Amino acid sequence: MTMLNSAEIRQTFLDFFKSKEHQILPSAPIVIKNDPTLLFTNAGMNQFKDYFLGNKKSPYTRVADTQKCLRVSGKHNDLEEVGVDTYHHTMFEMLGNWSFGDYFKKEAIAWSWELLTEVYKIDKNKLYVTVFEGDEKEQLSKDEEAIYEWKNFIAEERILFGSKKDNFWEMGDTGPCGPCTEIHIDCRTEEERIAVDGKTLVNKDHPQVIEIWNVVFIQFNRLKDGSLEPLPAKHVDTGMGFERLVRVLQGKQSNYDTDVFTGTIAATEKITGKKYDASSSASTGGSWREAVAFRVIADHIRAISFTISDGQLPSNTGAGYVIRRILRRAVRYYYSHLNYKQPLLFQFVTVISKQFENVFPELEHQIDFVSKVIMEEEEGFLRTLEKGLKKIDEIISVVSKQPGKRMNGTEVFELYDTYGFPVDLTRLIATENNLTVDEEGFKKEMEQQKKRSRVATAIDAEDWVVLDTFALNEFVGYDSLEIKSKIVKYRKVKAKGKEAYQIVLEASPFYAESGGQVGDTGEFKIGDKTLQIFDTKKENELIIHFADKLPDSFAEEVIAKVDTERRKAIAVHHSATHLLHAALRKVLGTHVTQKGSLVSNEHLRFDFSHFAKLTAEEIATVEAMVNEKIRENIPVTITKMPKEDALKKGAMALFGEKYGDVVRVVIIDPNYSVELCGGTHVYNTGELGFFKIKHETAIAAGVRRIEAVSGKQAEEYVTVQFETLHAIKEALKSPKDILKAIEKLQEDSKQFIKTTEELKRQQSSGSVDRLILKKENINGYGFYHDIILNVDIDVLKLIASELEIKNAKKEIALLLGKKDGKVSIVVALSNDLKDSEKLDANKIIKEHIAPLIKGGGGGQKTFATAGGQDASNLQQVIEKVKSLL
Ligand code: SER
Repeated sequence: MTMLNSAEIRQTFLDFFKSKEHQILPSAPIVIKNDPTLLFTNAGMNQFKDYFLGNKKSPYTRVADTQKCLRVSGKHNDLEEVGVDTYHHTMFEMLGNWSFGDYFKKEAIAWSWELLTEVYKIDKNKLYVTVFEGDEKEQLSKDEEAIYEWKNFIAEERILFGSKKDNFWEMGDTGPCGPCTEIHIDCRTEEERIAVDGKTLVNKDHPQVIEIWNVVFIQFNRLKDGSLEPLPAKHVDTGMGFERLVRVLQGKQSNYDTDVFTGTIAATEKITGKKYDASSSASTGGSWREAVAFRVIADHIRAISFTISDGQLPSNTGAGYVIRRILRRAVRYYYSHLNYKQPLLFQFVTVISKQFENVFPELEHQIDFVSKVIMEEEEGFLRTLEKGLKKIDEIISVVSKQPGKRMNGTEVFELYDTYGFPVDLTRLIATENNLTVDEEGFKKEMEQQKKRSRVATAIDAEDWVVLDTFALNEFVGYDSLEIKSKIVKYRKVKAKGKEAYQIVLEASPFYAESGGQVGDTGEFKIGDKTLQIFDTKKENELIIHFADKLPDSFAEEVIAKVDTERRKAIAVHHSATHLLHAALRKVLGTHVTQKGSLVSNEHLRFDFSHFAKLTAEEIATVEAMVNEKIRENIPVTITKMPKEDALKKGAMALFGEKYGDVVRVVIIDPNYSVELCGGTHVYNTGELGFFKIKHETAIAAGVRRIEAVSGKQAEEYVTVQFETLHAIKEALKSPKDILKAIEKLQEDSKQFIKTTEELKRQQSSGSVDRLILKKENINGYGFYHDIILNVDIDVLKLIASELEIKNAKKEIALLLGKKDGKVSIVVALSNDLKDSEKLDANKIIKEHIAPLIKGGGGGQKTFATAGGQDASNLQQVIEKVKSLL
């Protein structure tokens, strides 16, 4: 067989399962919304979790696809291996076939063997399989059925047994799981294979004896208490590492020598002027680090590009921080090991998008946006990297001499907090220098910081109390806002230190927060009791109602009733969001795509890709267009159709949302706005009444945010604006032209300030002349004093400064101002008196003057001020100071 390229290898997989009556589906987004247990898709089965658990019924019983996966957080984390070895990745493609309660072990095993050995023609003598040996503690027996099936194809000595660690697959700490059988391949040369038996190397981290396919038999749900609950049906979940398969079929020693990566590696060589030496190894030193850098870049750019194009921007928390960490790891590699000091990664987005245009077209549609986001991230980190590397060098030179050779938590935290070094980057650099980092110490520092800026996010949930295992969980709230249903499960949760209950109904009219639209509120009537529902959220496909308490009885019927007025206001803002989105694309251009959205009863917030601030004129045009569409009173039609048809109709696919095969399409004039959307809407645009933009701002590189209001909220907003305007008018005595009146006021006030300043200056220079004339000489001290009428403290200070007492020798000024029955006083001494024991301006004010004027004050030794209510003793004040001299 001639060598297949990677695209052909992928297609062969899909065609094979199509021939076995599987429905071929597109990859789900790599970024996960609506699942608190997972940030990114880490296995092909994630998007089918609800089918396994029985929360939802799959439209197909057999499915196959290639899925974008990321394993850099949570249970499955390979980040540290990536680039250092040649077969682990951050993002990778997982080829998978699934059976939802349809075929099981017999077919799954037979087909995997047929595809590998008969279609891809892999030499059977290179293959080994592992099966689950059982686990006493879990009360699970050896997988005899799998062994029996494998014996049809492979010699018994090639069937190996694996423990729970290798042969019992679990999605996470909780969730679907089951025994698995893995297929491993020995890619060593024939001599090597004769010399050492391949079966002794299976699952031993040998770079040439690797797992390529994992076939899982999903039978259980792992509960939070650690127990296994059998699932209502048995399923198959398989995952084959695409990059490894390509490497095997293309006869390469490393995944990076296949056409999946050679494009990016060649582009890196061209830009950096360095050469990728695939044969270098850790023992060959310098060029090995370069080779790792090449691999890290080729790997990381895929993860970064696809997570951003699936809707997650790099940030400082959660999923966004995972992307930032990957990106910074890549930047440090090219900066330190390829000696390239400018943004590099963003230059590869086009290469990647071209390579995947037919499999993951979402990137091709957003090349400019994704490149821009990556470039700004790179620039940002490059700004602190140099300083951070210097800092870490300093730390390393000290720590290397210490016996423990360990960087302490405070140092690691400082690198993180001040220089933006994610802990895995610091760990990497430490390892390169034969040091370790104090992980516990770092964690402690992080926790303290979190405590300082406490935002409790995680929800701590107990296991579900299930009342009905088989009941479906249906949303009926597009058409009804009040229905009768029953509770199928509930549980207690703790969030932000507060206890609440989550309740799931068989059917619900409550819209669960998703697609940016907030969850409904309302009430459950159970018998003669009413339960307030204060929020509704989604977990995977489950609609979860939040209540402060539980009902007294679960046997009774529930009347679930949505707060209709609130829902109406939400619908208004959702339809307004669609009108706004369409208007922005018409006014600014079709590069505008949604990057985030919030639709509530109070307002809407819409984030979109665009590179410049909107001008006042653009904002006005967008508003006018939306209001025009409102006045046209266009009916909002909602239909369901296959996703492909919807896209043909011009629907904007909103990446980052998980859509089934059949999508809901919201159309407001087929030539104006067609969007895939699961939200709730008005019937006619006229119901919106009016639309107004409140703010337009930037929120990230190339992403703008508009906040707007519609319906009653727009009316209220405008009313408040008008009230303010009227109040201003009245305050200005209702001039004809309010703007002119304000300008005049501003001009007058400027003039007024100028005049006042001038007056003060005149007043002070007049006083200075008088003071000089009246200067007395007492005991060798030059003493200026005067009572000046109609001046305040500012003028007195001005006079003191014009007298230039500061620089004189043995001089003291006592300035007394009188205005509106009040007194202000300044005592200023020449600087040479600052060490004088007897004369201290602050003391003079506090001890001698303040009591005489019924006031207070203070200051420094050479300059102090006072204010008081009694102007009748000013002469006495002068006498007092004289006596001190
Ligand atoms: N879920 C299994 C895995 O990720 C098989 O797809 O390995």
